[in-house]
Amino acid sequence: MRNIIEFDAMDPAFQRDPIPMFERLHAADAMLLDPAIDAYFLGRHEDVAQALRSDVFTTAPLAESAQPMMGDRVLAQMEGQEHKAKRGLVLSAFSGRSNRERHAQIIARVTSALLAESLRRGRLDLINDFGKAYSMLVTLEALGLPTDRYLDVIAWHSGVATFVTSLRLTEAQRLHSVACSQAFIAYLTPLVEDLRGSSRDGLIPLLCNPAAGGGMTTPETVALVLNVVLAAAEPSDKALAYLFHHLVSCPTLLDRVRNDRHLLAPAIAETLRISSPVQLIPRQINDDATVGGVRLAAGTRVFCMPGAANRDPSVFRDPTTFDINRRKAAQQAPIGGAASMHFAFGTGTHMCVGAAFSLMQLELTANILLDHLRDLRTPPGFMLEEEGFYTRGPVAMPLEFAPYDGAVPLGPRT
Ligand code: HEM
Repeated sequence: MRNIIEFDAMDPAFQRDPIPMFERLHAADAMLLDPAIDAYFLGRHEDVAQALRSDVFTTAPLAESAQPMMGDRVLAQMEGQEHKAKRGLVLSAFSGRSNRERHAQIIARVTSALLAESLRRGRLDLINDFGKAYSMLVTLEALGLPTDRYLDVIAWHSGVATFVTSLRLTEAQRLHSVACSQAFIAYLTPLVEDLRGSSRDGLIPLLCNPAAGGGMTTPETVALVLNVVLAAAEPSDKALAYLFHHLVSCPTLLDRVRNDRHLLAPAIAETLRISSPVQLIPRQINDDATVGGVRLAAGTRVFCMPGAANRDPSVFRDPTTFDINRRKAAQQAPIGGAASMHFAFGTGTHMCVGAAFSLMQLELTANILLDHLRDLRTPPGFMLEEEGFYTRGPVAMPLEFAPYDGAVPLGPRT
């Protein structure tokens, strides 16, 4: 039976660096309990798999943590046929050859334009000069939304994300988040109304169209669009910055990947495993359940910790080592066998619907960066600082490279 370690999820030491607590959890074969918020935190790979794949573990907490910000239900709150139908619409808007080609063009254009501005300087902060604008511009364009007010959208998104990803909020934070949510909804509502019934490609006309299986009201559509904007923009810049952190930290690996781009896909998979941008996935148990031999009563709140599960030594050999051959090696000599998948995108019914899009986005953008940033390195003395324990990412990811002194080989954003 699992041991239970009591802890304080708000402890600044845990929030600054959760990895020592993950290691303690694994060494003690435990789950964590935060008595102040009366919730269990699961970090064994097996426990997280069980919780995310079982219907007994519901997404009920989102009614409090997400719905008030979106104005209506998010996709993960839906169940059964309704969830299947709406999830299918989101999937169809992000898959298929013509969508993939359109999205690839958007990703390449946004990446090139933002990069062009930095190439002459010979330095670029992948989070603050590039990533935040990049992840929002790609998301808005992929959804067929205008980009002229993307800076406002980034500010509203930040306020909404604070609400969704905080276990405790001050009253000032709550009021700010509510104001951001209201502004965001007011901005999106007329845009959704305009796209309703239009023959344009993209998610919004699909969600509105009864013949396509949508038929959602404007507030329902706005909520789902807000949901997708938040889900897509929040982790993307973090994953990209982590990828470059791992590559630049090991110059021989960087050279190998630069010279053999087939290695990018395993490098991205390993980045997502060892540096998962989504660190908490909330659930509530709707019937008594047993996890790791521990009996949990109906109504219990649980947080799955993909970042901990992805470092479970009973599944991942040398879990703290960044190893791009891991998946290949696991197929040949598995510790965890077929179960040794990482949970950066979750698993089960609510597994990330944008996973394939994200992987394409990361690979395309990383290829463009590797093509143009020569002599890539971090500034002397740089130490990675991370923030967030619900979603987690680098505070900054400064890169230095050989500056272009002639014509910059990338065009402006049109
Ligand atoms: C590196 C990038 C990303 C990461 C790490 C990530 C991670 C996750 C995780 C862990 C979940 C599972 C949540 C749960 O089980 O409750 C999830 C769900 C979801 N993600 Fe992503 N995500 C990423 C990118 C995206 C993108 C680009 C989209 C845009 C389409 C997206 C849309 C969604 C939606 C709508 C859900 C809810 C799915 C459902 O309930 O059926 N995500 N994501």
